[in-house]
Amino acid sequence: AGEREENETQKGLRVSDKGFLNTAVIQSEITYIDGDAGILRYRGYPIEQLATQSSFLETAYLLIYGVLPTKDQFTLFESEILHHGVVHAESEEFFRSFRYDAHPMAILTSAFAYLGSYYSEANPSLQGQSLFTKGDKASLANMDKQIFRLIGKATTFAAMAYRVRQGRDFVTPPTGLSYTASFLYQLDHLGQVDYAPSPVLAKALDVLFLLHADHELNASCTTVLQTASSLVDPYSAIAAGCASLYGPLHGGANEAVIRMLISIGSPANVPAFIEAVKRREKVLSGFGHRVYKTTDPRSYIIRKTADEVFKITGKDELLETAMALHDAAMNDEFFQKRKLYPNVDFWSGLIYRAMGFPLDFFPVLFVVPRVVGWLAHWRQMMLQQGGVKIWRPRQVYVGPSKRDYVSIDDRT
Ligand code: ACO
Repeated sequence: AGEREENETQKGLRVSDKGFLNTAVIQSEITYIDGDAGILRYRGYPIEQLATQSSFLETAYLLIYGVLPTKDQFTLFESEILHHGVVHAESEEFFRSFRYDAHPMAILTSAFAYLGSYYSEANPSLQGQSLFTKGDKASLANMDKQIFRLIGKATTFAAMAYRVRQGRDFVTPPTGLSYTASFLYQLDHLGQVDYAPSPVLAKALDVLFLLHADHELNASCTTVLQTASSLVDPYSAIAAGCASLYGPLHGGANEAVIRMLISIGSPANVPAFIEAVKRREKVLSGFGHRVYKTTDPRSYIIRKTADEVFKITGKDELLETAMALHDAAMNDEFFQKRKLYPNVDFWSGLIYRAMGFPLDFFPVLFVVPRVVGWLAHWRQMMLQQGGVKIWRPRQVYVGPSKRDYVSIDDRT
């Protein structure tokens, strides 16, 4: 440390960890990742078992409460969430206030913050304390209510953000459909008359939602917790997470993958693209991960799901280019040496595209399920032993040492 940092550095040991590569900020019981072995478990259950045997909402219950629900618990949970899918008619005006070409993530991020304005009981700043008071059952129920609302309204808001851009009316959440089928129904994104979601596509989306539901302290979840550590209401914290997820290094990556594949155009152009990546002129979107140093275990499941979807929708024309790119990167020393393998986003964009979603809606399809993970972490934080500690990292100051103000007339 130079002389000018002296005062700062003298105040005790401080670890500088750019990008939080080695900093653990919480103890968590929710999600386990072994990035070297390619293992992902929610509450101890392997992701492969959940993806084939569970459903998104059942897994949501597991993530939030730590156990698989009984039949009664699940029925209650599902009905609470679906019931909270209905939104106040006034909110239609809010959605209509956006321009027709507004990005759906801008709408959705704003919508979560807007939603909080309806629920003063979720705003502890009025009470100056956490939503949860130890030993107080009512405060636990109060937290659950916000969780039901946020998960229930996530799909409704996402569908409204989608439809408002097309100048179409909003669809009230239907009854009798699963969470994911209800979402597809509300979107009716291909504009069909008497639309009924295909069970195969609803199931595929359900699997994708399940795989995206949590991934421990990624940038957006960390943002949610950082924000919530000030004890702000969960709606504001979720809005903050939404904003973080939108970036191209995080939730924007599946959109970037499709744009990359379109720009490559055909398998014949893959070698030239790979060389451009190696010259640092391009990034191979959908490859690389801060935690996984082998193939992301979710990408195997997604690859299989893609085949199911393509049976209904027909193969995406970009699939061959994607496969050629995948194989070329996997066999190239540049990527092997840096342990760059496919992540969850490499294949998911192809499925969304085959299902007819526009590119800028892809991050929304990531946010909707991730709301569950964010809320599981938020609840865990609110219930943690000893209360919530505000997250306030330190820095290493490298700016000027003390200097005196110079009047504008005397500056050269
Ligand atoms: N294409 C080309 N080179 C890459 C890529 C990539 N996708 N990812 C990493 N590298 C290179 C880096 O340039 C670096 O090379 P160097 O050591 O020679 O300087 C090396 O691999 C290590 O990479 P870092 O950037 O240090 O890894 P980090 O953990 O900081 O970044 C990240 C991880 C952001 C995911 C990165 O791999 C990336 O940008 N990937 C593309 C975007 C993407 O797919 N994001 C989705 C992530 S998963 C999710 O959010 C759901």
